[in-house]
Amino acid sequence: MKNDTQNDRKVVIEQHKKFSESCLWKMQRDYFDQEGINAWVNQVPFYITSNPYIANCYAQIVIRFIRDTIQRNPDAINHPFYILELGTGSGRFSFYVLKTLHELRQTLGMQDVSICYVMSDFTKNNVQYYETHPALQPYLAQGLVDFAIFDMEAERPITLLKKNIRLNPETLINPLTVFANYIFDTVSHDAFTVHEGKLYELLLSIATPENNMHDNKPVNMEHLSIDYKVNEIKNNYYDDPDLDQILDIYKQQLTESSFLFPIGSIKAIKLLKKLSQNKLFIISSDKGYSTVASLDNLGHPSLSFHGSFSMMVNFHALANYFKNSGGDAFLQTPHKGIKTSVFSSHQQLSELPETALAIHQYVEGVSAADYFTLHRRMSDTFNECSLDIIAAHLNLTGWDPHIYLKLANRVTALVEESDQDTVAFLAKNMPKMAANYYYMPKSDCILFEIAVFFHAVKRYADALHYYQQAQHYVGEQFGLFYNIALCEHHVGKIEDALANFARAIKIDSSSKEAIEWMTYIQKELADKTQTQ
Ligand SMILES: C[S@@+](CC[C@H](N)C(=O)[O-])C[C@H]1O[C@@H](n2cnc3c(N)ncnc32)[C@H](O)[C@@H]1O
Repeated sequence: MKNDTQNDRKVVIEQHKKFSESCLWKMQRDYFDQEGINAWVNQVPFYITSNPYIANCYAQIVIRFIRDTIQRNPDAINHPFYILELGTGSGRFSFYVLKTLHELRQTLGMQDVSICYVMSDFTKNNVQYYETHPALQPYLAQGLVDFAIFDMEAERPITLLKKNIRLNPETLINPLTVFANYIFDTVSHDAFTVHEGKLYELLLSIATPENNMHDNKPVNMEHLSIDYKVNEIKNNYYDDPDLDQILDIYKQQLTESSFLFPIGSIKAIKLLKKLSQNKLFIISSDKGYSTVASLDNLGHPSLSFHGSFSMMVNFHALANYFKNSGGDAFLQTPHKGIKTSVFSSHQQLSELPETALAIHQYVEGVSAADYFTLHRRMSDTFNECSLDIIAAHLNLTGWDPHIYLKLANRVTALVEESDQDTVAFLAKNMPKMAANYYYMPKSDCILFEIAVFFHAVKRYADALHYYQQAQHYVGEQFGLFYNIALCEHHVGKIEDALANFARAIKIDSSSKEAIEWMTYIQKELADKTQTQ
């Protein structure tokens, strides 16, 4: 056994490294690669950027952008509109965007417009999950979705895995839309500090206790300690006027602060600009800063670890980069919560009337951040809410299964004493909730909970329908067979009920209730035969 002094001994992992060249970024990629879809099982937060509300905001903006593009150039309708999602993660957000885009295309009579939504990530483990996900199959069959492996830190071709098309200037005739949620904070940054009017780069050193090392690698990123050294910058740091101009703004305007510069994201944006012949339209939501004032008086960058780690995105720098290179940006007025930003590489947003209106409504209006703030406050009080308030909240969430799963017990406890209009309103919207089901490992099945709701309100045929659908996800379970049997008995399917009580007993032979039900039904069937 090691003594305390040995345990406290530190290993230096790297010393005085440029921030964007630190091994942290490789550790980050290794984490996501190894975890694959499990990264979203109680590790990396995802709900804030992966819910029907934010997906609706994005779909509404992009559909308006497509309409503006066709309005300005009628030939655009003859070519596909590609939407590339970077660092897609679980795919939950993509599914809701696809669903809404599909509905909007129908409602707005845009069936002739070819849209291809490309879910990309750098790890094939995530992409494989999307390829076989049941919720995405209808959109795959329609050609509305495709998949790609794209590492933002590597300048490699982007090939659509299903259509086998490469995104390049020949295929990207229309502007390329890019969605980037919680990804600009995940790829590499440089770090700087301003002190007494001088600009310094921050060089990073990382150490960790010896007992956190295995196979020459740190085991737990939370046990890394980070240290900085400064190095004065005298010349143009990036040798790129669009970028050096931004550093100059900070040198002139920050009184005393350290800040990050999203160089990994900018390199990826440059590549996408090249592929699309400088016709790029980006929507991004992340934690971040959007004004010089908010970048001032900050300490050296701190990393927040949650399985992976993330940083604050310098949206102000990204906006300036687009503006310096002939484009435009809209940054949401800062308030607490994540920030949504819109960037255009080739046209002013004011030239796109429908898009500008949608940005006004879905970014500056009740935004993804506002939705999340309200939702979080509500979720603290779910157990005090009456059914009408719960129903209103579920409507606001867009009938989100993830939220219903947190509320299901409260709902079933309240249905009996609540007014029938509210119960009917919930019942009417249950199919919408079922259609919003995006399966994630180790999470409860919404179809089962919807069945329980219908069971509780004595709509046995509907309950049966959802219990039977749930079987695919929950497998052979006592509770499922028992509930199916109860509903079958209620709708007069006596033989089926008997068979399902028998299945339930096979799983739990000690269940007195199930045995009593079987005896009761056997007698019922015998009496029936006698009277015939
Ligand atoms: C913090 S998660 C965000 C996921 C999702 N966009 C969301 O909002 O929940 C970062 C995602 O980016 C992916 N990723 C990490 N480094 C990447 C890189 N260099 N290029 C592309 N994707 C990357 C990870 O696999 C992960 O899916």
